[in-house]
Amino acid sequence: MDTRNERISILGLGAMGRALAGALLDAGREVTVWNRTPGRAGDLVARGAREASSVAEAVEAGGLTVAVLLDDASVRESLAPVLPKLAGGALVNLTSGSARQARELAGWLGEHGVRLLAGGIMAVPPTIGTDGAFILYSGARDLFDRAAPLLEPIGRPQWVGEDAGFAALYDMAALSGMYGMGAGAGHAVALVHAEGGDVAAFKRDVLGPWMEQMLPFMVGGAAVDESVPDDFNAAMQATGLETMLAATAEAGLPAESAGHLRAALWEMRRAVAAG
Ligand SMILES: NC(=O)c1ccc[n+]([C@@H]2O[C@H](COP(=O)([O-])OP(=O)(O)OC[C@H]3O[C@@H](n4cnc5c(N)ncnc54)[C@H](OP(=O)(O)O)[C@@H]3O)[C@@H](O)[C@H]2O)c1
Repeated sequence: MDTRNERISILGLGAMGRALAGALLDAGREVTVWNRTPGRAGDLVARGAREASSVAEAVEAGGLTVAVLLDDASVRESLAPVLPKLAGGALVNLTSGSARQARELAGWLGEHGVRLLAGGIMAVPPTIGTDGAFILYSGARDLFDRAAPLLEPIGRPQWVGEDAGFAALYDMAALSGMYGMGAGAGHAVALVHAEGGDVAAFKRDVLGPWMEQMLPFMVGGAAVDESVPDDFNAAMQATGLETMLAATAEAGLPAESAGHLRAALWEMRRAVAAG
């Protein structure tokens, strides 16, 4: 079934909701938008969106309802009054949350005859609709097959399983990787800055190329079991991490800025202890 002409209602016009609606309009989709605080539709209406004055009106617009609100509580608060109108239909929830929240949301919606396709947006507003953007979805495969062609303009749809919690799980886990990298990069720059180094040159000539070189090792080498490659020297790594923590203190940086180094040291000590 070709569903690409189906109407889409976007609940939430924060930075992400506006980006999603814009990408869908650019692709010629019929879009209805709603936001709790009126007046946030910006130029979306001029670009062809219909602005609903209530969640009920947005849901009644028909087609697929997509929530992109602040958090799980805001999704429940917004949808509770309109569940009877959604009964027999589906919600695509692109609001960030935990796996448990997604599973519980699926259960709560299910009690009211509403099916959930849970999502995790692997993009930021400026990259929505670009080649790099992808969206994780979990829930019933037939629901994904219906929604994916419709929502494809926002980012490459990637189904990660029937379990409603998996999109959120993978999203949270991937964000953990990103924030770890961000914390590391922020600490690296602070260290260079604190000791009088040339931050711009360091970022351009050292940090960027170094992180690019290491990324495949970090992703490929990450393991949950105790196995490590034969040539991996955890004791040496642990000593190096202790030196990095000492350098942090020498530079006068707060210990809190080096939490990622302490986490890595904990991992190395476990590896040493495991032999
Ligand atoms: N921005 C990103 O880079 C990014 C990336 C990936 C995923 N996400 C996820 O996308 C979701 C939206 O992010 P955003 O960047 O658009 O956030 P945002 O700019 O802060 O917008 C939040 C939206 O939630 C609405 N909202 C908040 N509390 C509400 C409530 N109790 N009832 C109804 N609506 C409520 C706000 O409405 P009002 O205007 O009325 O306050 C607004 O539309 C979040 O779950 C975020 O984690 C964002």
